[in-house]
Amino acid sequence: MDALDGLRTRLVIEGGRRLEGVVDVPGAKNAALPIMAAAILAEGEVVLHNVPRITDVDVMAALLESLGARVREQAGGTLLIDTSAVASHPAPYALVSKLNASFDVAGPLLARFGRAEVPQPGGCVLGPRAIDMHLRGFELLGATVALEHGSIVASAPRLTGTTVTLAKPSVGATKNIMLAATRARGTTTIENAAQEPEVADLAGFINAMGGRVAGAGSPTIVVEGVTRLHGCEYTIIPDRLVAGTYLLGAAITAGDVTVRGIDPSMLDALTEKLAECGCRVAAEGVALRVVGIPEWRPADVVTAPYPGFPTDLQPPYVTYMSLAKGTALVEETIFDARFVYVSELARMGADVKVSGRSAVVQGVERLQDAVVEAPDIRAGGALVLAALAAEGTSEVGGLEYIDRGYEFFEERLASLGASIARTSVVSPVTPRIDIGLTAQLPKVVTPYRSA
Ligand code: EPU
Repeated sequence: MDALDGLRTRLVIEGGRRLEGVVDVPGAKNAALPIMAAAILAEGEVVLHNVPRITDVDVMAALLESLGARVREQAGGTLLIDTSAVASHPAPYALVSKLNASFDVAGPLLARFGRAEVPQPGGCVLGPRAIDMHLRGFELLGATVALEHGSIVASAPRLTGTTVTLAKPSVGATKNIMLAATRARGTTTIENAAQEPEVADLAGFINAMGGRVAGAGSPTIVVEGVTRLHGCEYTIIPDRLVAGTYLLGAAITAGDVTVRGIDPSMLDALTEKLAECGCRVAAEGVALRVVGIPEWRPADVVTAPYPGFPTDLQPPYVTYMSLAKGTALVEETIFDARFVYVSELARMGADVKVSGRSAVVQGVERLQDAVVEAPDIRAGGALVLAALAAEGTSEVGGLEYIDRGYEFFEERLASLGASIARTSVVSPVTPRIDIGLTAQLPKVVTPYRSA
């Protein structure tokens, strides 16, 4: 799908239906992307299972191919990546600029080839995406780091293990430093590391390739350098953020949804809040069920690094609070501009007052239908939830963002009882579209890169 398709295509959603049923959780985007980048370290073929079918994966696959890798898709979410022919070419700006996670290739390139040349990621709609801690980590490991014509060039004949203490637990810096350290001489300790499950999953993958990483998932990660990493087969963890979006969907439609295939403890910060609001939450094995109620209490939230409340669930949570019986205070501590979607939510009748990194959400009686545009991935999830709960038929655009992070979103929501269809908007004046008809239209399903 090109960007123009994203502008033409919308999700048409008839609100007011309860979400009900069981939904399988796809693989985690934020684990799949760094794991694909980490495949650069393998001298051999890597087989990855449970890779989500989203456009960010396509971009990472294209980036790996541009560096000389061979990426093939097998049915059912399996990718085969052979990086034996990869060399440390400059990573192309056209691809890196589409995906902040592209910078994840820097650590593996530096570790395997002693040199990485990757365009510096710019900002995104969420605010500046700084990489100073990644670069400081590379320097502490012994690399020379310079900015040359817009690209970061890091080089070192061989890195040497050291202790890196992060100023804050950055997910990206933890991953990149861990990756760079895999083949360093001696031991690297990362203090104040990010504890996100996706960081632990990346460590699991490195170990499956023959690396030696301990402590990932805790604030202290220890990496013993090895001389070589090999191919392996690995299954990516489920996406807790996608799962959380479906559970908030249950809550906001007073529905009853079970997400299947996920460790429920990964979503404790969310489910504690949902219980506070009055939802019934039940965890059993790898299934997590939320039963919503027609009138719910507000609960304040402060986003924080894992195991705190995830910043990525802040937009759908604010949407849920916009229909609560009372007022909730939501504070964002990770990204400068993560309330950017609020103006679109307001067009559906939400009452959210943003001041800097805080929002006061005054619950309203109802949300109304509107044509809205998603400005980023998770805000897209949030606007879809708003449309599911709103009166009337809404249209959510910005699918070029939603498709970056949500695999088969409308199919899964439809299986839970949502009235939702993807359709093209043919005229500048958005026509009212009959849901029954548009449901018959062929779906735009995003494939991986062709084999
Ligand atoms: N930061 C710095 N310096 C650094 C690194 C980060 O100042 O060297 C700042 C960033 O500017 C940002 C904050 O620290 O304000 C958080 O950055 P972090 O490195 O923790 O996040 P990230 O690796 O850029 C990942 C996810 C995000 C998710 C955040 C927080 C991926 C591909 N992305 O980003 O996911 O919100 O962690 O959990 O893993 C999404 O999925 O839509 C998404 C944005």
